[in-house]
Amino acid sequence: MSNVKLDKYAVFGSPIKHSKSPVIHQLFAGQTGQDLSYDAIEVTAEDFIKSVDTFFAEGGKGLNCTVPLKELAWQYADNKSQRAEISKAVNTLILQEDGSIFGENTDGIGLLRDLVINHAINLEGKRILVLGAGGASRGILGPLLEQLPSCIFIANRTISKALDLAHEFSEKGAISGCGYTDLDDKKFDLILNATSASLSDQLPPLPEALLEKNGVCYDLAYGNKPTAFVRWGLEHKAAQSLDGLGMLVEQAAEAFYLWRGVRPDTRLVIEQIKIAVD
Ligand code: ATR
Repeated sequence: MSNVKLDKYAVFGSPIKHSKSPVIHQLFAGQTGQDLSYDAIEVTAEDFIKSVDTFFAEGGKGLNCTVPLKELAWQYADNKSQRAEISKAVNTLILQEDGSIFGENTDGIGLLRDLVINHAINLEGKRILVLGAGGASRGILGPLLEQLPSCIFIANRTISKALDLAHEFSEKGAISGCGYTDLDDKKFDLILNATSASLSDQLPPLPEALLEKNGVCYDLAYGNKPTAFVRWGLEHKAAQSLDGLGMLVEQAAEAFYLWRGVRPDTRLVIEQIKIAVD
């Protein structure tokens, strides 16, 4: 079949070479009988506006944006969901019938689906620790607070960023910011690593007794091998120590649903992608 007839989608980012999104979306398309193309395209922050304009002018229907473009995509969208507005980051752009561009952030919902549905982890009344206070943390705090945990702590190397972020979300639930040394006397049911430390196989300094008995560790990052934080979780007897591959597939599924109106079976695709990663 010629590419000309296919509805066109893509992910923009830099670096983008190792993105799994094209494979994930092709698996979704095959499974749901949708005809579409989905490419990974290297786009830097400087080229962002020109590249997005061209993509939609040439018939593109929807776009994913990843590092370092999510904040720029948030600025680009004509209209945004409340969730995207709060997170100040957009990972999914959708061409509307009137030609305007709608922005959504599917990262938070992707994380929740992986935690709550795929791994049966209930967050209500739980003590949650989020490591890191950058864009990745900002994108998940709203959806996490909606699950009514007893509290969320944000720990960050630069304490002021953790305090600012906690302050921003303070009307939505019990949330505090702190530094890593403030964690010495605390314990958590769920620890989420939203730092970019994993990408260089590093770990923030974490006290030994940080995880409650039967606690869960979750790294938003993923890799071919267990990340440094997933290994930390295993070494500290986490009931589950998970990487972000499930979140990646779930956030993609939500984008696919927004674009195509059909929900793919994510469990099947997570298994297929795991085999591809191994
Ligand atoms: P992202 O969009 O992936 O969240 P970011 O906004 O640059 O990227 O944020 C990166 C986060 O990882 C920050 O919270 C950063 O801590 P600082 O704000 O103190 O810089 C955190 N981070 C990165 N490398 C780290 C490391 N080696 N140890 C601890 N935290 C780290």
